[in-house]
Amino acid sequence: MQLADFLAAVSLLSYLKTTNAWSPTNSYTPGKVSCDSDINLIRKADGLATEETEWLAKRETVTKDALKKFLDRATATFSDNSIVESIFDSTTPRVGFASCGGGYRAMIVDAGVVAAMDERTVGATENGLGGLLQGISYMAGSSGGSFFTTTVTYNNWTSVQDIIDQMKDGDHSIWDLSNSPTNPGGSDTAYTSAVFDNITESIKLKNEAGFDVSLADAWGLAFGYYFLPSLPRGGYSYQWSDIQEVDAFKNGEMPMLIEIAKVEKSGETSVDLSSTTIEMSAFEFGSWEPTINSFSNMKYIGTEVDNGSPVNAGECVAGFDNVNFLTSASTNVINTLYNSGGIYSSLIQSFKTKFLPNVTTSGHIDVNIAAPNPFKGTTNYESDSSIVDNDQLYLVDGGIDGQVIPFTPLMRKERDLDLVIATDTTADTDDVWPFGSALVATYERQFMEIGKTDAFPYVPDTETIINLGINKNPTFFGCDSSNLTDLAYVPPLVVYLPNRAYSYDTNVSTSVLTYTREQRLGMIQNGFEIATRNNFTDDPDFLGCMGCAVMRRKQEKLGLEWPSECAQCFERYCWNGTISNSDTVSVPSSSASINGTSSIASTSSATGSASGKNFSTIHTETSTTVTCHECEEAKATTTVICEECEEAVATTTIECEECEEAQSQATVTAECEECDEAQANGHHTTTTLTSMTTTTQVCEECEETQASATATSTNESSNDYSNNSSNGSSNGSSNGSSNGSSENASGNSVKSTSSSAAILQVTTGIPSTSAYDVFVNENSANNLVFKGVVSLLAIFGTIIELF
Ligand SMILES: *[C@@H]1O[C@H](CO)[C@@H](O)[C@H](O)[C@H]1NC(C)=O
Ligand SMILES: *[C@@H]1O[C@H](CO)[C@@H](O)[C@H](O)[C@H]1NC(C)=O
Ligand SMILES: *[C@@H]1O[C@H](CO)[C@@H](O)[C@H](O)[C@H]1NC(C)=O
Ligand SMILES: *[C@@H]1O[C@H](CO)[C@@H](O)[C@H](O)[C@H]1NC(C)=O
Ligand SMILES: *[C@@H]1O[C@H](CO)[C@@H](O)[C@H](O)[C@H]1NC(C)=O
Ligand SMILES: *[C@@H]1O[C@H](CO)[C@@H](O)[C@H](O)[C@H]1NC(C)=O
Ligand SMILES: *[C@@H]1O[C@H](CO)[C@@H](O)[C@H](O)[C@H]1NC(C)=O
Ligand SMILES: *[C@@H]1O[C@H](CO)[C@@H](O)[C@H](O)[C@H]1NC(C)=O
Ligand SMILES: *[C@@H]1O[C@H](CO)[C@@H](O)[C@H](O)[C@H]1NC(C)=O
Ligand SMILES: *[C@@H]1O[C@H](CO)[C@@H](O)[C@H](O)[C@H]1NC(C)=O
Ligand SMILES: *[C@@H]1O[C@H](CO)[C@@H](O)[C@H](O)[C@H]1NC(C)=O
Ligand SMILES: *[C@@H]1O[C@H](CO)[C@@H](O)[C@H](O)[C@H]1NC(C)=O
Repeated sequence: MQLADFLAAVSLLSYLKTTNAWSPTNSYTPGKVSCDSDINLIRKADGLATEETEWLAKRETVTKDALKKFLDRATATFSDNSIVESIFDSTTPRVGFASCGGGYRAMIVDAGVVAAMDERTVGATENGLGGLLQGISYMAGSSGGSFFTTTVTYNNWTSVQDIIDQMKDGDHSIWDLSNSPTNPGGSDTAYTSAVFDNITESIKLKNEAGFDVSLADAWGLAFGYYFLPSLPRGGYSYQWSDIQEVDAFKNGEMPMLIEIAKVEKSGETSVDLSSTTIEMSAFEFGSWEPTINSFSNMKYIGTEVDNGSPVNAGECVAGFDNVNFLTSASTNVINTLYNSGGIYSSLIQSFKTKFLPNVTTSGHIDVNIAAPNPFKGTTNYESDSSIVDNDQLYLVDGGIDGQVIPFTPLMRKERDLDLVIATDTTADTDDVWPFGSALVATYERQFMEIGKTDAFPYVPDTETIINLGINKNPTFFGCDSSNLTDLAYVPPLVVYLPNRAYSYDTNVSTSVLTYTREQRLGMIQNGFEIATRNNFTDDPDFLGCMGCAVMRRKQEKLGLEWPSECAQCFERYCWNGTISNSDTVSVPSSSASINGTSSIASTSSATGSASGKNFSTIHTETSTTVTCHECEEAKATTTVICEECEEAVATTTIECEECEEAQSQATVTAECEECDEAQANGHHTTTTLTSMTTTTQVCEECEETQASATATSTNESSNDYSNNSSNGSSNGSSNGSSNGSSENASGNSVKSTSSSAAILQVTTGIPSTSAYDVFVNENSANNLVFKGVVSLLAIFGTIIELF
């Protein structure tokens, strides 16, 4: 850490101390505090909280000046830009930013997009939308987008420019992603052990204080070291509600953050589009939706209540709203994996014994457990009492229902936004680019019971989105209020900014958890270019067009004359209702089912389905880097469990000893064959499982090179095994994968049984980068969900090895 960083860290720390911004126990453990004996901690969701309304008024005095300044600049070349004056005479447009999910890819691309709108970014005024961010009232995050929004919000509203300026590899500065959460210290093994010991301790102490814990606590605490590195133990005692004490927030100098998570119902193991959405704002935790219809005071969400009244009068609990814990809730993909059966469930069970030793769990190790349930006994719900009846509230990733872009909090009628600017960093295609499935999911949901109080502009089906190139360039949705009157209310205009390549291929797999400084900077620059149409080289008028988007709703309301430049912009950027797909659909609709999966499934490549057989291809590629110091012995063990089989079928053990300052590489291919066929049940499904392990051993200060690799299997005959040594590093990750049809004696395939017609291909890798690539093509599964999910497996899988 450089001196400047150190001083910044110290000043943030002392600031937090003087403002008392800590958990009551000064740790991860929530603690008792006194509160009014007649306090009620929840309110019906019948409007904005008083605190939010008051804060908005304060924010609006700042955004008014900022937006006016931005619009003056954006419309400077218009033949007549007097509309700007007219708008600000009586109103101020209200703008929100939605930070899409997609792991670190999303976090970094979103950072670039936001940098382009931030006047603090070098070059953003010359080449970008600088100043627009200063005029934004709300910022919403979901999944990987929450990684971004949590980082900037809880580092005293730092700028992307500041993060860039201090960006290095290996110094534990913000977004130092040079080491994955599986090995946060890299070669500094003492640091790694300290991190893991501290995480385990935090979980244990929270549990001992009477709170349910799960693997999701570990997930949040581990990521805290990357997002809040200047705080003790990555922010383990920093609370979500502490933002209320930060000057920039208090004075309305930054937008309000809202992150979302989904509620998994008791007795269920997954969520879908009909699941309840929880909003986490600066002041409140809760939901507008009929199953909860209440908000709870964020500061006290750990308090045991009955219909909002503390069960012990005058006694509340604070510190439950830990920043890492709630960011974890917005990003937690453990449960989908856990409940997908087979290998995943077994592995997560084994993580439990590593992460939650001697801890009493209620069995829900895969979700964020908010218990006591803040909504217990509330009478505000309108339908389905199952959530408010339960003692615990189970939370999972906010985008896992398919709504990867966190539109819903920004679309609320109560917040009355005029414009929402949204990124789309979803991995819709196999090569990790978006095609608008998230737009379609949110559009569809407003017509379901759960979404009946939401509105979202019409969007086309995903095929049209591809055919019209909407997934390649900025597009505006809901340009004309008059076209939206059939919806629950007139929603904000949406500016959609899909991820695409300009100067950098920003389609990095969701599961990649290490990036070098160069990669991060390249991705941020590409994000900047996405937001600006390549620094306005693709369209010099784009700055003005963004200005028009900001002004549109107010212009409609006030009946102001629409500048000709804006009319041209809207012709260029608005989706005008055209449908271009192979169906005969003539009204805006979508290919997504209400369950939100089919638009994704339909584009999945159905590997191996042509034969008409039902078979799954599980193609596992595992890479482990073993660093040997002073000829220490290191071991990596990979266990691959064949779905529907009883036992582990391949175990690879790599031992490193007596190495030299060289890299040796071993490639081991282990395959499983002939799993139990007995439960055939009439339907035979062929599963081909190929496991490839690439091990790079970096050995220092040793005399000799010696790499050995052994592979054993419960079925020796199925074992194809080879090893090799070379000075190179990366040519060993073979891609000679299964083709899903061979059942020959060389042992490349497995027969197993399944009652469902699943076509599944999984490609994974746990290299030093923890890079996992997963392609799941299954008629019951959602591609992007599984992509996120398996990265988690990578993390915990490797953590276990390190433990
Ligand atoms: C937070 O940011 C503001 C604005 O940049 C700055 O004035 C203040 O000193 C910062 N506070 C801390 C504790 O760093
Ligand atoms: C776009 O502008 C930004 C900010 O000035 C700069 O960093 C980036 O290199 C520019 N990109 C191109 C392609 O010129
Ligand atoms: C671990 O916790 C101890 C005690 O709070 C602290 O001094 C140390 O800095 C922590 N280390 C890490 C890496 O979190
Ligand atoms: C768990 O309990 C066992 C036996 O009581 C003890 O030896 C071990 O240290 C405990 N582990 C932790 C992490 O507390
Ligand atoms: C990224 O996109 C390019 C071009 O579409 C493609 O060649 C590449 O394979 C993609 N990368 C990943 C990780 O899918
Ligand atoms: C609507 O957009 C499509 C393609 O973007 C274009 O071909 C068509 O002419 C437009 N229609 C109108 C009425 O502007
Ligand atoms: C909005 O309404 C106009 C006029 O009725 C129509 O031309 C246009 O296609 C509509 N746009 C959308 C997105 O439906
Ligand atoms: C949603 O999924 C459930 C279970 O897979 C199914 O029964 C239901 O018909 C689906 N609903 C729609 C609208 O596709
Ligand atoms: C594939 O699965 C479906 C549904 O389970 C079943 O009806 C069909 O007979 C299976 N086909 C084969 C070739 O096993
Ligand atoms: C491969 O590994 C085996 C078993 O450890 C060893 O006997 C053999 O020499 C190795 N071959 C190469 C080319 O490294
Ligand atoms: C090993 O393979 C043989 C024949 O290939 C098979 O009969 C046996 O069940 C397999 N054993 C295991 C544990 O998979
Ligand atoms: C080992 O790798 C080298 C190049 O990396 C290759 O030329 C050689 O044939 C390989 N040997 C074996 C036994 O696979």
